[in-house]
Amino acid sequence: MFAYNLNKITMHIFNGKADLIAHLTAINTSNSTIGFVPTMGAIHKGHLSLLQQSLSENDTTVISIFVNPTQFNNPEDLLKYPRTLEEDVQKIATLNKTILVYAPTVADIYDKKISSEEFNFDGLEHQMEGKFRPGHWDGVGTVVKKLFEIVNPTNAYFGEKDFQQLQIVKKMVEKNKLSVNVIGCSIFREPSGLAMSSRNERLTAEQREEAAFIYKLLQETKEKFQEHTAQEVTKWVTDNFADKPSFDLEYFQIAEEDSLLPCETKIETKKYRAFIAVFMNKVRLIDTISLN
Ligand code: PAF
Repeated sequence: MFAYNLNKITMHIFNGKADLIAHLTAINTSNSTIGFVPTMGAIHKGHLSLLQQSLSENDTTVISIFVNPTQFNNPEDLLKYPRTLEEDVQKIATLNKTILVYAPTVADIYDKKISSEEFNFDGLEHQMEGKFRPGHWDGVGTVVKKLFEIVNPTNAYFGEKDFQQLQIVKKMVEKNKLSVNVIGCSIFREPSGLAMSSRNERLTAEQREEAAFIYKLLQETKEKFQEHTAQEVTKWVTDNFADKPSFDLEYFQIAEEDSLLPCETKIETKKYRAFIAVFMNKVRLIDTISLN
């Protein structure tokens, strides 16, 4: 463990789980609460808003910063993923609160065997991201389970931008009977409407402005879905990308919120969402919007 003194507060940075567990054991009583924000770093305002929610609802807040190798199916994406621990710590310090930062090494999490556990998420894993990123959900499930075992949080905070991830983590908690509340938090957007993401760092200022088109389209999707079928809306979205050479649409899907199954026929009592994944200059951007 080492400590930075920034903005008159002390930031504790833990590289090893043994130190973190010892510290948490020392400071927590049996009824105190731990809030946890798992991240892969490249901290942005979206992460800071999750931290703020955790700080307001828990006695202790822990953030993990770990680029998890097992959830990357594309080696180039893993290689290029931003690793900016110093800047991340500075950004966390702007909140001016005591926050425990767990930034483990790969060996601290995986020991000598960097591999995933195989999960059954009742089919959630086969939809959307699962079709395009083989092994991704097993990798996420593996690391989140390991992190939950280390931090033992009362509440864990996840952004709704990765809505499929949120549902999968909830399923993992339910199936493994873990005693953690998984809390979904609203998407934090740039002023243009672009969903905040660590990957936005890899876009130029002009590309970021242009990428705001994704959210504009999702907002129109919401309007169109009131009057049209899911199939009609999907065709309209696909057509919209046809004359946008800067984008490469990977998928657009209208799905039921709980099961994530594609919407074939609208059912009044069900809640639907639109999900999108688009490449811009080889940077993969995802977004989602609730439709009803
Ligand atoms: O959403 C992320 O940043 C990652 O998937 C998570 C949850 C930190 C697991 O590596």
